[in-house]
Amino acid sequence: MPKSRITNPFKPSAGHLPPVLIGRDIILDDFQEGLDNGSGAPGRLMRITGARGTGKTVMLTEFRRMAEQQGWQTISETASKGMAQRLLEKLRPKKGNLSFSFEPSISVMSMGGSLGGVHYEQSRMPLTLREAMSERLDVLEKRGNGLLVTIDEAQAADRDDMVAIATTVQHLTSEDRNIAFVFAGLPSMASKWLNDDVMTFLRRAQPERLGDVPLTDVSQAFTDTFTSTGMLLEGEALSHATHATAGYPFMIQLVGYHIWRVAKRRHQQEDSITVTIEDAETGVRDALSRLGDTVHGPELDGLSPIDKTYLLAMAQDDGPSSTAAIANRMGKDAQYANMYRMRLIEAQVIEERGYGKVDFAIPYLREYLREHAAYIRMAGGITD
Ligand SMILES: Nc1ncnc2c1ncn2[C@@H]1O[C@H](COP(=O)(O)OP(=O)(O)OP(=O)(O)O)[C@@H](O)[C@H]1O
Ligand SMILES: [Mg+2]
Repeated sequence: MPKSRITNPFKPSAGHLPPVLIGRDIILDDFQEGLDNGSGAPGRLMRITGARGTGKTVMLTEFRRMAEQQGWQTISETASKGMAQRLLEKLRPKKGNLSFSFEPSISVMSMGGSLGGVHYEQSRMPLTLREAMSERLDVLEKRGNGLLVTIDEAQAADRDDMVAIATTVQHLTSEDRNIAFVFAGLPSMASKWLNDDVMTFLRRAQPERLGDVPLTDVSQAFTDTFTSTGMLLEGEALSHATHATAGYPFMIQLVGYHIWRVAKRRHQQEDSITVTIEDAETGVRDALSRLGDTVHGPELDGLSPIDKTYLLAMAQDDGPSSTAAIANRMGKDAQYANMYRMRLIEAQVIEERGYGKVDFAIPYLREYLREHAAYIRMAGGITD
């Protein structure tokens, strides 16, 4: 292949399959086992949680690929208003089939200026959905195949939609139908859905928490991916790149992408490219500034002013912070600060580090907070 045609192999954008899916063998095996072991196997009902950029969407994509490879049908949904309705439409794509055993009520939906659309009564939804999925399974099972349904961004789902889908899957599972169901979402999903009485069923889903991936695996993946495009990344440059990722999946793609880009530009005229430590350092700097724009900024936007005050108090330390010291800096008592500590742990923004200590769970958030402290205080109306 001519060198100039080779494109950057890294994929630093949401939901894009990376060149190497690093450090996720166990969860992939769990899912494959679920497919192989039939109805009732734990991997047939799974919930994936993780902070932004840990690879939830990519995991769902990979699961669908695996299921399709063995002849299954797959349906993917991203939670937002009307999810159960959309799922139903995917199960019964032909409008002519709509009159099956229920009465759709026609209503005008004015979303985005488009008119019309068949709208199912919410109260009938669980039953309707169950019938539609049953019918679909009747067809698939005759050929020995099954149906995988994946729901992304589940923390944002409407309760009615979740109830309809959960009851449907529960019934079909109890009937031993050949179905698998995986939902993925931010850690806040746990308190939103799993504390809900109606969702007992979802609580039984096998939990898979996506975290950082081991640096040895990152190093290997960098080596392989650079080599596959005719570049050499090794020694100090490789070690700098690897450590800069902190094992955070999105950062792995950012670092790989920017180092590759820098090296490609700087060594255009050379026959074979070896990445230098200077290339690696420039690439990491570029990656970091993209990380701030795409992860830290949006993450902080989703938090309350007091959550941010807590984080800013933490950012004063170079390592793990003492929870007592943070309360002190906030000018609040321990109990008050504790409430925010719990919230931030649940959101996987911070994590416990031994007794009475917390640290940031998102790489480089400390540095970002320090650099943007003045702006964050101002924008959040934080005065002290
Ligand atoms: N196991 C992995 N190894 C290497 N890169 C990965 C891995 N998982 C995900 N990535 C990369 O990380 C980035 C984020 O992945 P993805 O969009 O799936 O995350 P997410 O958890 O769905 O994030 P969000 O909560 O923002 O939707 C993508 O660029 C993807 O290519
Ligand atoms: Mg996602």
